[in-house]
Amino acid sequence: MQIYMPTKVYSENDCVMNHRDELASLGSKAMIVTGKHSSRVNGSLLDVEKALQEEETKYVIFDDIEENPSIETVMKARELGRKEQVDFVVGIGGGSPMDAAKAIALMIANPQEDESALYEEKDLLALPVAEIPTTAGTGSEVTPYAILTIHARKTKKSISHKIYPELALIDSRYLKTAGLDTLIDTAVDALAHLLESYLNTNADSYNRMYSEKGLSLFSDIKEELITCRRQGENPAQTFSDQGFDVLMQMAATAGMAITHTGTSIPHGLSYAVTYEMQVPHGKAVGIFLSGFLSSYQDKKDVQSVLGRMGFATVEEFTKYLDELLGKVEIPEGLWIENVKSIMANQAKLKNYPFQMDKDTLYAFRR
Ligand SMILES: [Fe+2]
Repeated sequence: MQIYMPTKVYSENDCVMNHRDELASLGSKAMIVTGKHSSRVNGSLLDVEKALQEEETKYVIFDDIEENPSIETVMKARELGRKEQVDFVVGIGGGSPMDAAKAIALMIANPQEDESALYEEKDLLALPVAEIPTTAGTGSEVTPYAILTIHARKTKKSISHKIYPELALIDSRYLKTAGLDTLIDTAVDALAHLLESYLNTNADSYNRMYSEKGLSLFSDIKEELITCRRQGENPAQTFSDQGFDVLMQMAATAGMAITHTGTSIPHGLSYAVTYEMQVPHGKAVGIFLSGFLSSYQDKKDVQSVLGRMGFATVEEFTKYLDELLGKVEIPEGLWIENVKSIMANQAKLKNYPFQMDKDTLYAFRR
C-alpha cells in the first residue's frame, strides 16, 4: 500500500486571490498557459493576473493552447518561456492547458533537450507548476500526467515524465459558464477515472478511498446532470452552487484516484476515437464504460461501484449513460484497428487485472 499526493490543494471561492502569496512564491516570473477564450469568459485569467500583480510578480501569457494540445504547441510555448526567462508555469483551463503546462514546464527547464525528450525515460526536472481547473473532468490539477497529441502517430499519449503540480487552486465558480456538452463530457471523464481506478490491477483498499468518495459524489450529482441533458439548457440554470462544487470535488478526487492506479481500457480505446473522429475526450471514454463493467470478471467489485453510484444493474447504468452522452457510431474499419492495437499493447492492458481477448474487447463498442 502506498499513498503519494504531493500537490497542495485548496478548494474554495476566491481561491486564487486567497492563496496568491503561495502562487507567487513559486518563482519570480510566471508563464500563464491557457486557451483562447474560456479563461477570459469565466474570470479565471483575470483572477490570476490580479493575484500576480498584487504580489508584484511578473508574468507572460501564452494563450494558444488548442484542444488536445500537440507537441508542436508545447515547443512554441517553450520558445516564448525561454525568451521571457520565466521560472514557473501556471496552467488555467481544462485538461488541455493544464497538461500542456506540465510539458512546457519540463521543456523550458531543459533547453538542451529537443521534443523527443518528452517521450524518453530520462531523469529531468520541470519548473514548478500551479494548476487552476475551469472544468470538472481531467483532474490534471492533482495528477502527474500530461497527455499530448502525437500527429505523426495519429493518437494521444501521456509523456514519460511524472510532473506533480506544486499547487492546485480550485474555485468551482469558474464552472458556471461551461456549456452543456462540455460540462457533461468532462463529468463523464471524471466518472471514468473513478471506475477505471477502482477496477484496476493497481487498486488496493487504501487508494480505493479516493474512488469510493468520488463515486458517492457522483451519485449526489447524477440527477442534476441528466436533468441538464433533458432540458438542453445552460447548466447554470439547473445546477446549484453546491452542485458545481460537488462536480469540482469529484473531478479532483478522481484525479487523486488515477494518480495512484493509472487508467484502464476505456481510456486506451478512447484516444484513437478522439483523434480520428474528433469526439471529445470524456465522451470518447464514456462510450466504453458499459462494456468495461459488463466484461469485468470480479462481479462483486462491479456491484460495489454500481451501488456507490446509485445504480442496481449494469443495464440501468448503461441506459443512464446512453441518455447522457448519446450515441457515437464508430466505423468498422477504425474499430477493428483500434481493438487490434490495444490487444497488441501490453502497456495498455496491464492495468486490467484479468485476461482480455479480442472478442470481448470488440464488444465494448456500443
Ligand atoms: Fe481522462
